Amino acid sequence: MAFIVKKNIHDKEYYYLNENKRVDGKVKTKTLAYLGKNKKEAERKAKEILTNKKKQPDQKILKALELEEKTTEKPTEISIEELAAFCKRKGFVYQSGEIYGGFAGFWDFGHLGTELKNNIKKEWWKFHVLQREDIVGIDGSIITHPKIWEASGHADSFIDVLVVDKKTKEKFKVDRFEAEKYKGDQRFEVKGEFSPMFTINVGPIISDSIKSYLRPETAQLIFSNFKAVYENARLKLPCGIAQIGKAFRNEIAPRDFLFRAREFEQMEIEYFIKKGIKCPYDIPDKEVLVYSAEAQEQNKEPVVMKIKHALEKGMIKKDWHAYWLATELRWFLELGASRDNFRIRQHLKNELSHYSSDTWDLEYKFPFGWKELEGIADRGNFDLSQHEKFSGKDLKVFDEESKEKILPEVICEPSLGIERAFLVFMLDSYYYNKGRENIVLRMHPKLAPVKAAVFPIVKGPKFEKIAEKIVKDLKQEFNVLYDKSGSIGRRYARNDEIGTPFCITIDGDSLKNEDVTVRNRDTKKQIRVKIIELKDILRKLIENEIKFEKAGKLFS
Ligand code: GAP
Repeated sequence: MAFIVKKNIHDKEYYYLNENKRVDGKVKTKTLAYLGKNKKEAERKAKEILTNKKKQPDQKILKALELEEKTTEKPTEISIEELAAFCKRKGFVYQSGEIYGGFAGFWDFGHLGTELKNNIKKEWWKFHVLQREDIVGIDGSIITHPKIWEASGHADSFIDVLVVDKKTKEKFKVDRFEAEKYKGDQRFEVKGEFSPMFTINVGPIISDSIKSYLRPETAQLIFSNFKAVYENARLKLPCGIAQIGKAFRNEIAPRDFLFRAREFEQMEIEYFIKKGIKCPYDIPDKEVLVYSAEAQEQNKEPVVMKIKHALEKGMIKKDWHAYWLATELRWFLELGASRDNFRIRQHLKNELSHYSSDTWDLEYKFPFGWKELEGIADRGNFDLSQHEKFSGKDLKVFDEESKEKILPEVICEPSLGIERAFLVFMLDSYYYNKGRENIVLRMHPKLAPVKAAVFPIVKGPKFEKIAEKIVKDLKQEFNVLYDKSGSIGRRYARNDEIGTPFCITIDGDSLKNEDVTVRNRDTKKQIRVKIIELKDILRKLIENEIKFEKAGKLFS
């Protein structure tokens, strides 16, 4: 990046053309030419020099750039502890109550983490609700009528078993079906069964208060409101109701950073159908590792195949399950997650929740192994029939085809924890770039917490004024950062590390040509864009509507 520098020597002005270059990871400034004592003349000369330079881009530099980016095609593998440390250092996530020693299972999101979390929710809602005709949303209360949890079975059947490793003293939770294998092992002690439900007293006087719970899943609010929403939103089966919100579980052993927390958020859909109806939607053409219950029982390895082929081969029993698994995978992949880190795994019979007849998980290869990222359960009409029974209310809806009232079935319940999605997007975008000697968080621009950083690269009020005007304008629409301190190399590095996809620089030419340079985080390629078009171009770049190279005049 070349720029004009004015030096005052014995009250006289001298102009130079300088260039910042990264040498061995450090940014060094080199003088390219002396431009004389007259400002206008200096600007003319600089332009001439730079135009000639642009005509013959340095092939060596271009090759080196290409090579540098090629060596970093896969995300850098890091441990969950390293990710937690990075998130803290950069202001994404902090341990809750850290100044008092921390509070296990609770996390606070900093300014960047909050932006990322909000962007994940926004993209999920857009894809699952706004862009579809058949799904509407609700926002239910966190503390609900205690009968809801009796009806759902959570009050009695939502149970974790606490096991202690006598050798290491490590405590961990297992499901009921797994407890047997620990009972016969000398090394472990099965401490007993515990409910992960947080109880609370509703009402100021404890003796008169009503015992209720903080919801352990958002789903039940969808069931208890089902009939009202169905009628008010004029839904027709097949259709879904979606919700994003907090859930709470008194986990025996919260661990692995955000993976298992006591307070977390879920994004859930209950998808209702008339029993037996076929899925009318095309199954997205997605290939992934498939691990059926049968393969697990026979100690076989999972196999890579298209999800629709797994349905054809009978590994996935229902077309709706294949459709939702492929749709959920598609959502992750379109936001830049890496396909190699995903697999779908069917629950074994003894692993199923009390409400489900068949469940497949979308699993992710976390640094601590393959684990559930999202559960997709067939809940049948368990929940609606339980709520009918406990409330005494008719929750059936009128079916136009048979002219009868029917109780719909939940054929699939895609249920995803935001914190787990947060981990996926962080892990799949974390690259240590050897050439740059810094981390480049190659996050999809739609998710990136900061969409653009604006830097004046020449000091002085004229440049800063333009920069501030640009920032003010862009801030009407995007989260934009203004950075005027430190070397240009440091400013790029700071933004690479927090995933800012575009850095906008204001230089000598910006004054004359009313344009700026936009630098692509991943390729370091730069384009020249007119200030007046900047907001529109940025919007298109974030939405992936234009290729970076076509968005402005490319230069090396
Ligand atoms: N309504 C169904 C349900 O809640 P689940 O498998 O218990 O099913 C769904 O939870 C998703 O919620 C999980 O796949 C995970 O993404 C997230 N989740 C569950 N427990 C969590 C915890 N303790 N911390 C963070 N996320 C959690």
